[in-house]
Amino acid sequence: MAISIEVLPGVGAEILGVDIAGGLASSELETIKQTFSQHGLVFFRNQKISEADHIGLGEVFGDINVNRFFAANPEYPQIAMVSKEPDQIANIGGGWHTDHSYDQEPALGSILVARELPASGGDTWFTSMYKAYDSLSDGLKETLEGLSAVHSAKHVFGPRGEYETTGSASSRIGNAGAAVEMKDPIHPVVISHPLSGRKALYVNAGFTLRFDGWTDEESAPLLAYLYERAIADENITRFKWENGSIAFWDNRATWHFAQNDYQGQRRVMHRVTIEGCALQAAKH
Ligand code: SIN
Repeated sequence: MAISIEVLPGVGAEILGVDIAGGLASSELETIKQTFSQHGLVFFRNQKISEADHIGLGEVFGDINVNRFFAANPEYPQIAMVSKEPDQIANIGGGWHTDHSYDQEPALGSILVARELPASGGDTWFTSMYKAYDSLSDGLKETLEGLSAVHSAKHVFGPRGEYETTGSASSRIGNAGAAVEMKDPIHPVVISHPLSGRKALYVNAGFTLRFDGWTDEESAPLLAYLYERAIADENITRFKWENGSIAFWDNRATWHFAQNDYQGQRRVMHRVTIEGCALQAAKH
């Protein structure tokens, strides 16, 4: 079956007619790269990939980032375990965010593979930061293009952060609360996307603290407005996982959140994250 692309109405595209484990022809890889660059999010279904195939796919796109907060797969440290046990209350990524905006050079993106799914629930939602930016008025776009924002992981992964204070010690998420060095980076609010060159909004509810040079209080109303615009229905795709499903998202072009609606069941996902680069402000 030949490779084909089905563009989804909200964000992303499904890539059909490929067998990742069977090896990708260079023309198939080129199509995947182009689709990823254009849409910032691609899905595959009915794949049977090993951990080594998963890492190999990530390496096609760059170096692998070994996550300093999440538990690593015991045999494959390049794979972060995104798991929720039946007795665990909080899940990883249970609010809208983009991964790694708390890093000086935010990760390019992640490839998430379903390994054990609940009987129902546990969908992942995605939204487009291209569409979020495009939907704003010219006046607001111009204002935002002159701004930068401060991002941080401390309130989520740091001591007394969200993940350390959620659940019991045994159900705590990864290394939450560990004394890991965390320097708060400053990124442009509107970036020129490193792959597509398109303008994308680059703030998120998970990790952005404030506009650089503004107080938290001054920043909150405009950030709240941008967050509301970002999750407009027309920007969103809700992905229902099945065995063999894979999602590959670009952190600079999308946000995502993992729905936590399967209490008492296990959900195990393997995540490979690819290193990114410093982000450049979009030119007026
Ligand atoms: C994440 O990486 O934020 C988790 C996504 C998911 O588990 O669906």
